[in-house]
Amino acid sequence: MPLAITDLISEKLTMKKRRSQNWFGKKGKDGFIYRAWMKNQGIPDDAFQGKPVIGICNTWSELTPCNAHFRELAESVKKGVLEAGGFPLEFPVMSLGETLIKPTAMLYRNLMSMDTEESIRANPLDGVVLLCGCDKTTPATVMGAASVDLPTIVVSGGPMLTGKYRGKDVGTSDVWRWTEENRMGTISDEEFRFAEGCMARSKGHCAVMGTASTMACMVESLGLSLPENAAIPAADSRRKVLAQLSGRRIVEMVNQDICLSQILTRKAFENAIMLNAAIGGSTNFVVHLLAIAGRMEVPLELKDFDRLGSQIPLLANLQPSGKYFMEDFYYAGGLPVVVKELGSELHEDALTVNGRSIGENCQNATCYNEEIIATRSKPFQEASGIAVVYGNLCEDGAIIKPSAATAELMVHTGKALVFENIEDYHAKINDPDLVAEESDILVLKNVGPKGYPGMPEVGNMSVPKSLLEKGVTDMVRISDGRMSGTAYGTVFLHVSPESAAGGNLGLVQNGDIIEVDVPARSLNLMVSEEELARRRALWKPEDLGYNRGYVEMYIRDVDQSHLGADLYFLKGKSGSEVTRDSH
Ligand code: FES
Repeated sequence: MPLAITDLISEKLTMKKRRSQNWFGKKGKDGFIYRAWMKNQGIPDDAFQGKPVIGICNTWSELTPCNAHFRELAESVKKGVLEAGGFPLEFPVMSLGETLIKPTAMLYRNLMSMDTEESIRANPLDGVVLLCGCDKTTPATVMGAASVDLPTIVVSGGPMLTGKYRGKDVGTSDVWRWTEENRMGTISDEEFRFAEGCMARSKGHCAVMGTASTMACMVESLGLSLPENAAIPAADSRRKVLAQLSGRRIVEMVNQDICLSQILTRKAFENAIMLNAAIGGSTNFVVHLLAIAGRMEVPLELKDFDRLGSQIPLLANLQPSGKYFMEDFYYAGGLPVVVKELGSELHEDALTVNGRSIGENCQNATCYNEEIIATRSKPFQEASGIAVVYGNLCEDGAIIKPSAATAELMVHTGKALVFENIEDYHAKINDPDLVAEESDILVLKNVGPKGYPGMPEVGNMSVPKSLLEKGVTDMVRISDGRMSGTAYGTVFLHVSPESAAGGNLGLVQNGDIIEVDVPARSLNLMVSEEELARRRALWKPEDLGYNRGYVEMYIRDVDQSHLGADLYFLKGKSGSEVTRDSH
């Protein structure tokens, strides 16, 4: 039986001086300045007299289409804050739209987290609501907020409605299929463009269990959001209801002094890993969860993802691992059903933002469609999750998502077909003269955190055109990059150390034999140590030509992917205290 955590939470903190009173409660010139300029927005004086000040951290941007509806959502949060007696103040932070930003949004995740962290700490806030949706906006804001450790609640933007294309349900995973068909000439350019509007027909983020939905499930699994946050479609009016209720709840959290560190415990991280396995979540989950754990100073290793997740059955029949969409997932009961189904496998007593445990929150969840959310006794796959492999090709690990891969390729030996960098890959992959065999293993170098820079989602390389024409649809692929959460295939990712950091991946040559054995968790380059030493002596990193600004700092200070690819100096917390005052 889950613990009645509510009983354990003291309300006496309502008596404690609020953080915001270090600004608005001040006497003399300082207090005058803090309050007077705020009053130019038409705010009455009683707003400054000890009400919990709630920051609404908004990642709205028209350049982040998945978050473009967040002004409306912020209004709902504000209503809730006001209803509960709080004082809401909305503020912007950097926003990262997955589709437009070059060279890759991941390059800026850590920068966005810094913006979030410093914006929260520097301002008179007692609690924060994070509005996030598109892939990086969730981990970036959570990472930043974690390093401040105030009462915090996440409201996700919600997925798009399921796409409708000529009588069929479609989503982001179909982009890869349409692209291959367009490459093959089986659908025209006009049809390709027509499909765009069919797929993205409503506000919200990608409608499949891609990275954005995985992140939304992650925050619910961690206990950072109200139940059902993950799956309510952006266009469903209940999304606004959830935002309003979250606004009410954050005021209570401030009164109860429930900070992130009480929620983001080791138990919460373990729950998130197990639930991510059960829903067939994105491989990007790994690098983001590691980074958040690093901020919280909770020990978490790559091995934990395999140990805790790989034996968890796949319960959600959602694309790209399965058939359905996030909208269907919501109507079937959403993440609470999966939580209930995993039951005692999870730490049911882990605290969530509503003051109850995750077990309490989900004990009455009901599944309305077992074709979409299966039972443990009859799962869609017996074992899911993320497998972590090691070997001389990835001494600090690499990952693969078996549920999105071809079972026959889980044990495989083949010749390396090497692309030195992304330009080399683009130049060759469609070349009809590229000599490639179905059993070959595609190797892409220099797409890791330092090497690209920013670890882009290019790990799911296309099958060479010459093989595609013969009907080959999957091959083993290895890189130090990531892959889109909406993609699939037998793809080894996040190879660490990356090629640009001197990893053996950088030493692979065309024709080398590579052995893949996922059941044995190994990935090895069958080249002698002497030969590798000879190649290493000749190796030097590519000169990327970055010599200033954020990117230069990122390349210098970013950790490897098995550590979360955070900037090493951002690990841990600085807390919420600000010791100096310029007035
Ligand atoms: Fe924003 Fe997919 S592009 S969630």
